[in-house]
Amino acid sequence: MAEDTVTICDNRTGKTVKLPIIHGTEGVPVVDVSTFYKEFGMFTLDPGFRSTAACNSKITFTDGDQGILLYRGYPIDQLARQSTFLEVCYLLMEGDLPSPTQYTQFKEIITHHTMVHEQLLNFYKGYRRDAHPMAIMVGVVGALSAFFHDSLDVFNPRHREISAHRLIAKIPTIAAASYKYSVGQPFVYPDNTLSYTENFLNMLFSVPCEKMRLSPVLVRAMDQILILHADHEQNASTSTVRLAGSSEANPFAAVSAGIGALWGPAHGGANEAVLTMLHQIGSVDNVDVFIKRAKDPDDPFRLMGFGHRVYKNYDPRARILKESAHAVLADVGRADDPLFRLALELERIAQEDEYFIKRKLYPNVDFYSGIIQSAIGIPTNMFTVIFAVARTVGWITQWMEMMTEGPSISRPRQLYIGHPRRDYVPMDAR
Ligand code: CMC
Repeated sequence: MAEDTVTICDNRTGKTVKLPIIHGTEGVPVVDVSTFYKEFGMFTLDPGFRSTAACNSKITFTDGDQGILLYRGYPIDQLARQSTFLEVCYLLMEGDLPSPTQYTQFKEIITHHTMVHEQLLNFYKGYRRDAHPMAIMVGVVGALSAFFHDSLDVFNPRHREISAHRLIAKIPTIAAASYKYSVGQPFVYPDNTLSYTENFLNMLFSVPCEKMRLSPVLVRAMDQILILHADHEQNASTSTVRLAGSSEANPFAAVSAGIGALWGPAHGGANEAVLTMLHQIGSVDNVDVFIKRAKDPDDPFRLMGFGHRVYKNYDPRARILKESAHAVLADVGRADDPLFRLALELERIAQEDEYFIKRKLYPNVDFYSGIIQSAIGIPTNMFTVIFAVARTVGWITQWMEMMTEGPSISRPRQLYIGHPRRDYVPMDAR
């Protein structure tokens, strides 16, 4: 039987080296190129990490061709339909589904860390009222580092665990406060009698003079959104958290870096961009014009919420969100919502179009999530913040996995294409 290796030959010298092929439990195998520089005196080049695995991980698996997403081995549709976000947090962090006792204990821990230090709330006042809430999130989450000197030893497993619990518990409080600040309403303190998701919605929407009535359909839809966004293996923001954490930076600083990476429209900012795009298209009558624009290589317009670096099939999360959109819109009495009809039509036409078929461009997680969130009453500029709330557990779990293995600073190499060595020319001689 052939050895599980790839043979690389440097045709200039004839030197041949066998590189080991490593198989994971699922998915495509990898070639271990860690000795490549030592063997050949060359680096490998892969901008955008199109062919490069940056770590080993036991947390999340995606198969982009089949449209599969597993958290700790469990299919996303089973978790989205049968589990709760907090149970998924436990699963991601601990590796297994909790027993009833473990779940009760975990809920207790998270519930009792929901408040933030009163002085942290002063940070908000430093922002302009019209600041994007993601700008506030980057700053305030990073600022958490200043409040927990008691547990910032990144090599202490108990410190890491406490930080993870604090982040999961406090992120809805911080996110809701960023919204309250932008609309000029008082901050709402967490209510520990409510579930995680009810509490989050309550902090977003209640005001001191009026109690919030939460529809179970909307609470469930929001819980499902949190589950679906909880982790997605080595995406841009998660890789950013790992990269920042690899320098032994504290987890609040690393997660704050991840929030910054999530913000961009090619990543978590796409949900906001989808709604902006749907408003821009305006009506079903204009779909053809925009589809034409999306296909034009000279037009920067892209169909937001379409396409994915990994999924070359229907994103399994988008399928669940499409179903959820029907339920949520019916619950809020907008079953015939024109934006939803527009989105469905856009999807239908794109899926029949040669351009999208050939490039395997399907709706991704962001395509329907904005429609659901606006039906719940969440403003467009908060969509990416909701994504950040959900992804915090993924970021911190991935960070913990890396720290448990013992981090080695991530330091990519480069192909230098700048000016060759030259001598400094004094100012008066230029
Ligand atoms: N609309 C029109 N054409 C597209 C789109 C799109 N949304 N996405 C990709 N293409 C085309 C692209 O122009 C290229 O065509 P060609 O081969 O003729 O040059 C081809 O499809 C391959 O695209 P790519 O840019 O090489 O693909 P990528 O893997 O680098 O990019 C992506 C993935 C998600 C950045 C991209 O599909 C995109 O910009 N989509 C819109 C933004 C979006 O919805 N982002 C959310 C991603 S999912 C959530 C998350 O991860 O946060």
